Amino acid sequence: MAARVIGAEHVTDAAQRGRRMIEVMPGDIVTATARESADRLKIALVDGPVERPRVLETDGATAARRSLYRRNPKWTTPQQRPGSSATRLTRLALVGAGGVGASVAHMAANAEIAEEIVLIDVVPGLAESIALDLNHAAGITRSGTRVTGGTALSLVEGAHVVVVTAGRPRTPGMSRADLLQINRRVIQSVAEAVRTSAPGAIVIVVTNPLDEMTVEMLRATQFPRAQVIGMAGTLDSSRFRKALADKAGVPVGDVEAITLGSHGDEMAPIVSRARIRGRMLGDFLDDAAIQSCVEDAVTGGGQVVALRKTGSAALAPAHAIIEIIDHIRGARSGPVPVSVMMDGEYGIDGVVLGVPCNLGLGGLIDVVEIPLSEAEQVQLKTAGDAIRKRLE
Ligand code: LAC
Repeated sequence: MAARVIGAEHVTDAAQRGRRMIEVMPGDIVTATARESADRLKIALVDGPVERPRVLETDGATAARRSLYRRNPKWTTPQQRPGSSATRLTRLALVGAGGVGASVAHMAANAEIAEEIVLIDVVPGLAESIALDLNHAAGITRSGTRVTGGTALSLVEGAHVVVVTAGRPRTPGMSRADLLQINRRVIQSVAEAVRTSAPGAIVIVVTNPLDEMTVEMLRATQFPRAQVIGMAGTLDSSRFRKALADKAGVPVGDVEAITLGSHGDEMAPIVSRARIRGRMLGDFLDDAAIQSCVEDAVTGGGQVVALRKTGSAALAPAHAIIEIIDHIRGARSGPVPVSVMMDGEYGIDGVVLGVPCNLGLGGLIDVVEIPLSEAEQVQLKTAGDAIRKRLE
């Protein structure tokens, strides 16, 4: 990076963005008025490069791993496994071939994470057209994944993983919860097909309202909790990390943060465990700036809906689904935030909630209890109560 002259205007700008420090790199010149402003506005001028955490990981659950290690120093951090040891799924079924389903198919085919991908959608021709389109790309991508499509739910047959995005998306002004009655019936019919044709499958629920639909899927399939996972935490955490990186003016790879709780208003972005370059958020951002990142995580999905008018986000959710599949098949390791049925963890029972989990080829291995602040504990409980209430 070229040396900069850091003037008073840089300091004012940093203060307006809620930043608490300016990194002064070797060679940078800081003007006298900049130093005065920094003093007045309580912005630290820190000699850079600001120390980065020794283990740089792209996995979002690093904060969770670290805190576990602090509680039990004998605990060894799970290592990222080399791609070659990851299992390739035999069959990946995508129920719903809208934006999310199509994007997952695209990414999964390119990465050849399954031998076969089947897309299913009630709209005649839609799933087939995406399959054909992707097959037309295979001459370039050289992907050996077989992609097919159809309308029959029975096509889930024999799938190792079933991703369910089917259902109505939100339109501007709607909350995820508004979709409950409409999408419940969709989930019930998908569940019936999965129970009959893919009884060993791990089901990743994406249809909103996410937590409620995951409960519905569990009820209707009668599957053990290990086999039914809701996708929310991986997506919301990604939004939270990006918001923090942008606010602090650092690369997103320097941010570790997760969100737990519900995939809705009761989402709980975990500030106490979030780190920028291994430091607490307060070293980089003031409370208002942190709060605005929390709000960005909670409202991120709605922001996309408001812009698109019809339909919801597709690309980030697809990445978040692939992240979960990669944990299932062993291409990534360590805890990852997903929505699962609680069984006493965090003192919560009988409701689906986003929590850090270890995943494997059989789905959920275990829920990881990380230390949370008291307020965050309360947030989790409140989320559980709200979801339970909406389901009544
Ligand atoms: C979102 C949808 C997938 O958060 O709920 O974008």
